[in-house]
Amino acid sequence: MSKINAAITGVAGYLPPDLLTNSDLEKMVDTTNEWIMTRTGIETRHILKGEDQGTSVMGIEAVKSLLKKTNTDPSEVDLLICATTTPDMQFPATANIISSACEINNAFSFDIQAACSGFLYSLVTGSQYIETGKYKKVIVVGGDKMSSIIDYTDRTTCIIFGDGCGAVMLEPNEEGMGIQDHILQSDGSGEKHLHQKAGGSRRPANEQTVANREHYVYQEGAHVFKFAVKNMADVSYEIMEKNNLTADDVAYLVPHQANKRIIDATANRMGVSSEKVMLNIHRYGNTTSGTIPLCLWDYEPKLKKGDNLILAAFGGGFTWGAVYIKWAYDPS
Ligand code: UT7
Repeated sequence: MSKINAAITGVAGYLPPDLLTNSDLEKMVDTTNEWIMTRTGIETRHILKGEDQGTSVMGIEAVKSLLKKTNTDPSEVDLLICATTTPDMQFPATANIISSACEINNAFSFDIQAACSGFLYSLVTGSQYIETGKYKKVIVVGGDKMSSIIDYTDRTTCIIFGDGCGAVMLEPNEEGMGIQDHILQSDGSGEKHLHQKAGGSRRPANEQTVANREHYVYQEGAHVFKFAVKNMADVSYEIMEKNNLTADDVAYLVPHQANKRIIDATANRMGVSSEKVMLNIHRYGNTTSGTIPLCLWDYEPKLKKGDNLILAAFGGGFTWGAVYIKWAYDPS
């Protein structure tokens, strides 16, 4: 029997309609369009507005359009995994909320929290279920409502993040397409450089934590930048080397969209030219778990069966990793 790989057989995404531009940010904090563009490459971000609107709202939209696009009856789905750092609630899992709203009722579902590497961790986890041969349709959702944990008086973080969500369908492939290899890593000593101080069990919400603005992203940007450049570039190079891929063999690098300079450094280390780099950071900013599936969604019309893709991410934790995929279908 030939080996079963997990292949992406469809991709969809959702971005909320409201935009936050650099010129809006110039009115909110001491910054300039020029600084943001040169230091990050970001022009606009989408923001989910309105009462009682959590990450699931975007996940539901993305999954509904994925089901429609792939002609999938919700009852056929075996498993739904949601990568998010901004779940609707501490519990239940946002994956459960999405599944229920999409009438995915014959499945089990759970969340994975690995910050900006969450989608890669979830993709690899989902692929393991497919490879057993027991599970036939696994949906992996990646998305975040970063605006819910961003301090819009902190110019060092509020310029970076946006809201958005993407989703992919994983199915068995016995033709050699799909996920070929992965490298996932974490280093908990990175906690001090990137975290949210309060709201968890160590420091539950109280008047003081709110007054101290501890429910927002705390990031030592320059420090995280150094780790991100090194680890994302190294892991991308390592997975190419491990699979005997040259830059010519790679159709696209699909990098986490945290900072254009980190993306450029990763592409340089791989020897991959800029036209082979998926990029949407200028339009969406850093949507954390959403960046990679949203890139795949944007570039799907350009992808051909057999294309070699290297997905790479780095994020809070620290967490990082790379996934090597042979794309499984031609554009429709
Ligand atoms: O997504 C997962 C993980 N996160 C990342 O990968 C993010 C990694 N870090 C970064 O992308 C960058 O470090 C930032 C975009 C956050 C910051 O860029 P930087 O080039 O590393 O700037 P910096 O933090 O070294 O700050 C340089 C200067 C500072 O001023 P002084 O101290 O030199 O006078 C900052 O106060 O830039 C200042 N600054 C700003 N100036 C205008 C910081 N933010 C801003 C701003 N506008 N928005």
